[in-house]
Amino acid sequence: MSTSGRTRILGIGSYGPERVVNNNQLSNTVETSDEWIRTRTGIQERRFASDEQATSDLSLEAAKKAMEDAKVLPEEIDLVLVATITPDMAFPSTACILQHKLGLNKVACFDLEAACSGFLYALDVADAMISSGRYSKALVVGAEKMSSIMDWEDRTTCVLFGDGAGAAVLSRDGDGPELLGFYCGADGSNPSLLCQPGGGSALPASADTITGRKHFLKMNGREIFKSAVRVMESSCRKLLDQHNIAIEDINHIIPHQANMRIVESLSQRLNVPLGKFYCNLDRFGNTSAASIPLALSEAVHSQRIKPNDLCLLVAFGAGLTWSSTLVRF
Ligand code: ACO
Repeated sequence: MSTSGRTRILGIGSYGPERVVNNNQLSNTVETSDEWIRTRTGIQERRFASDEQATSDLSLEAAKKAMEDAKVLPEEIDLVLVATITPDMAFPSTACILQHKLGLNKVACFDLEAACSGFLYALDVADAMISSGRYSKALVVGAEKMSSIMDWEDRTTCVLFGDGAGAAVLSRDGDGPELLGFYCGADGSNPSLLCQPGGGSALPASADTITGRKHFLKMNGREIFKSAVRVMESSCRKLLDQHNIAIEDINHIIPHQANMRIVESLSQRLNVPLGKFYCNLDRFGNTSAASIPLALSEAVHSQRIKPNDLCLLVAFGAGLTWSSTLVRF
């Protein structure tokens, strides 16, 4: 049982849809090549949900695994957070839809939108809500059906993303890795760097937004790349400084899985060997809010992370948003 009074991860699980599409298969329909995608990003294949699967269905599979891993019953969950930028619909929240699919009680449910930083933001929010004493067991999900907003006529973005979900059950009652600290930040000064311009209140859906392909993801890859490297480094350093922990004491870094070159730059800037980074980007591509829980779940269940290891999670995404989390296993 928890004695430190910190929130713990009681269980974690992930789900990757069955359909696997490798770079060569993509190059049959998009003007690209396996060589370009691999050397520029490190991605070899990605998974795509079926037409029948919405983000809540991907969430459901990951949540069931996390709840089984945590050995908690549906009636014990009293809070559901889903981090996503590809909700089933604009409203109601995907968290509400997931609550029903899981057969949970009529507990508090909401979505959180911080793009690729969403899961780490959600850990911070869930920890605060649990720490308030008003909630006991939170189900936190990061899930995306990125294929639903990818523009197959834009080769600069459509080769980068994939679908998936990861979930964790958090509580102060029970055993599991401890959440030691959180840091979240954002800079909203240039939303068009990475956005889905159409369909919101600024640009409601119309025939023009459809012909202008404004319901798809738009990204200035080069600018995002530069910000990502800088912001991920400072976000790691800030959290470590807050907790008086040296970077050498970190056993594993699980970064947002966007581009292997970003991870390599981060490894150099932090002076941490690449071997300490856990990456599954080659098999999943960028799954946005699902990326960190997908990688963390794999690292935990493959026994790569050992008891007492110190793990640093770090993300950045549209907004721009960034976040880091420290976990003691
Ligand atoms: N296949 C072949 N050629 C391509 C492709 C493709 N899929 N895409 C672009 N090219 C070409 C371009 O047209 C360009 O050709 P040109 O020189 O003749 O004009 C050339 O390749 C280089 O293009 P760049 O955009 O300069 O390529 P770069 O090396 O910057 O890599 C990339 C692009 C991979 C997108 C990179 O900038 C990146 O990873 N950025 C960060 C993206 C990211 O991390 N996003 C995460 C946040 S996601 C979220 O929050 C939801």
